[in-house]
Amino acid sequence: MLRSRILGCGSYLPEKVLTNDDLAKIVDTDNDWIVGRTGITQRHIAADDQLTSDLALAAAERAVAAAGIDVAELDLLILATSTPDNTFPATAAKVQARLGMHQGAAFDVQAVCAGFICALRVADSFLRSGQARTALIIGAETYSRILDWQDRTTCVLFGDGAGAAVLRAEEADGNSADRGVLSVKMHTDGRHYDALYVDGGVSSTQTAGHLRMQGKEVYRHAVVNLAAVAGEALEAAGLETGDIDWLVPHQANLRIMNAIASRLDLPTEKMVVTVDRHANTSSASIPLALVEAIQDGRIKPGDLVVMEAIGGGFVWGSAVVRW
Ligand code: UT7
Repeated sequence: MLRSRILGCGSYLPEKVLTNDDLAKIVDTDNDWIVGRTGITQRHIAADDQLTSDLALAAAERAVAAAGIDVAELDLLILATSTPDNTFPATAAKVQARLGMHQGAAFDVQAVCAGFICALRVADSFLRSGQARTALIIGAETYSRILDWQDRTTCVLFGDGAGAAVLRAEEADGNSADRGVLSVKMHTDGRHYDALYVDGGVSSTQTAGHLRMQGKEVYRHAVVNLAAVAGEALEAAGLETGDIDWLVPHQANLRIMNAIASRLDLPTEKMVVTVDRHANTSSASIPLALVEAIQDGRIKPGDLVVMEAIGGGFVWGSAVVRW
């Protein structure tokens, strides 16, 4: 059987850093509140002339280099974003061209903060069914453009960034010792559409709009759904929480992440944390965390890595990968 093996990952963070103290000069907030409620100390913000495609391209080039492949080998590019450059074409098309990839298919997926899991799931389906051999998946966001900088309940939580991974279809034995994507599970419950949304859009207001969130409602669903879907993905792979080497959660809030680790009975030392320095970068948060843990030597070949994320919709999912 075929498995989608992750050959390499790359990420990019814009240079500009906005600290909690910087934010306290813009809205009525303070470092203690932000750190205490979320674990966030700073976030990166894209320069005025940097678009989502610029961040995506930088992460993609690094992922391709880390994978040790030639761009000509890619036959699929999936970009997860909820902050595209334009309404259409897909931002993936721009990234494809700038990367020098002139073959295969390229398109965007929109699953908000669960975007990277969604891109992984779609790419995995293409690779395992033989419709593509080498895929580049990217999560890239410029949430600074859709934040209401006067709303302290949301503007302190998010940052900009991008992360990417190259996957290749490889023959495997079909058991949980295989390297590659072992399972991916996803769910959507659109009854919670209004709990986390952007109050603009082409069809509704013809403006970009701003992010709106019922924080407590999101928090409650995040803890319950993410622990459950991680368990579901592990079960599908014939594994248990005790088999996890590294949990790489969507980086939204340290309190949510700790609560999930606790529900999974997983020591927090096995959880990769970047939310303190990156804040919530939506679809980019998982690959940004992956790159950090690969580069500092925590994630090693053969390790069992579990990723999970939830975003507006709600849409949520989890992936189990043998590195
Ligand atoms: O990818 C998924 C994206 N979203 C999330 O993961 C967010 C999930 N939710 C959360 O992380 C939390 O609900 C928040 C961090 C957003 C908020 O924490 P909370 O413990 O639920 O606080 P709260 O909304 O109940 O607010 C408590 C108080 C309020 O004041 P009063 O009404 O008690 O006087 C807020 O007005 O904190 C106030 N507050 C702030 N104070 C200082 C809200 N935001 C701020 C702020 N600085 N930035």
